[in-house]
Amino acid sequence: MRSVLECKQMCADSKASKPADGRGRYEVGQRRCNTCGVFFDTANMHCQCCGTKLRTKPRSKAGKERLAAVHSGSAATAAEAAAPNPAKTKPASAPEPKRAAKTSDSKPQKGRNGAATTTAKSAAAVATARGPNLGGMDWGLANRMASIIRPEDSRALMLAVDHGYFLGPTERLEEPDRVIAPLLEYCDSLMLTRGVQRTSVPPTTRTPMVLRVSGGSSIIGEDLSQEDVTVSIQDAIRLNASALALSIFVGSKYEYQTIANLGRLVGRAQEYGIPVLAVTAVGKELGKDARYLSLACRIAAEQGAHIVKTYYCEDFEKVTRSCPVPIIVAGGKKIPERDALELTYNSIRGGAVGVDMGRNIWQSDHPVAMIRAVRSIVHGTNDVDRAYRMYLDLAKPG
Ligand code: 5RP
Repeated sequence: MRSVLECKQMCADSKASKPADGRGRYEVGQRRCNTCGVFFDTANMHCQCCGTKLRTKPRSKAGKERLAAVHSGSAATAAEAAAPNPAKTKPASAPEPKRAAKTSDSKPQKGRNGAATTTAKSAAAVATARGPNLGGMDWGLANRMASIIRPEDSRALMLAVDHGYFLGPTERLEEPDRVIAPLLEYCDSLMLTRGVQRTSVPPTTRTPMVLRVSGGSSIIGEDLSQEDVTVSIQDAIRLNASALALSIFVGSKYEYQTIANLGRLVGRAQEYGIPVLAVTAVGKELGKDARYLSLACRIAAEQGAHIVKTYYCEDFEKVTRSCPVPIIVAGGKKIPERDALELTYNSIRGGAVGVDMGRNIWQSDHPVAMIRAVRSIVHGTNDVDRAYRMYLDLAKPG
């Protein structure tokens, strides 16, 4: 089992620099990892490199008092009067962004000084604020969702290795066990078929499994859209699936069948508290534009999908805005590494919770370097240039 208190050298590129305006690091909202010995500009509770809980306050009593004074407004400095960065000055009790609200934060909201912000609320409101906020979900469903979309930052890095279900031995995925092993510790979840899970993933892993349960067609067959549900809910439970994945083919010959499959699957999975990820698969004849993808994503959400996987496109915000559940973006066919990092960055900026990437990771000449660079965008603070530099550094021999 890997240690949670060890710097994995993944933090170098995402560490925050000292505020240029003279304010203290904690004062501007930076958090420190004592294990890695660096500060991050993040709202995460834990270090994305080693897992250590991040410090939000100085260690010394004097430092704590100074910070409390700054936050209470009694030590306003000239720097504080300067134009605020909304991301840094947002009070802790402000509503979370749309995506964050979907994956519950189980702790009651507190004010900046740690005091509960409920004094003005009625007793009834206080009573309903107690206990975990499950966002209307059953505990099991909320717990599984939280294993896929990390509650610390409401982001997700899913590694897709399910391609063989219709492509057979896909290039560079011929031996899934060898591909998966070095990447497993860098993804939040693994999307795969039951065959690959049983034969190629060690059962000792703690990585959650997103189990593909649809199939029935092949790349050389008549019509790829003719899919059915091929795995029973009992088998999914035996495999300890954290979510079930199924494709819908909106606008294809088998549109009705695949959308009805989704509706039935959600009904069955929900009985056991298992979320469903709907994949908006696109046939050759259909364009991947915002108009089509927003139609497909919305239909999936209306059928009850808990997460929707789709493609990045121009005007992507149109797709995320009109889909009431979290969207995760597929990597698509292999493109140069920098372009795949740009796709990751733009997807998140456009409102996706993360990426479900396959070929652009394991078809890279340096899959571990690539997944770590993708991760530094999804869970860290890297932009495309910094992530690409990270990729190049990690890809260097020796
Ligand atoms: C195939 C899938 C794949 O998991 C999905 O396309 C992601 O992989 P890639 O990044 O290689 O596109 O759902 O239907």
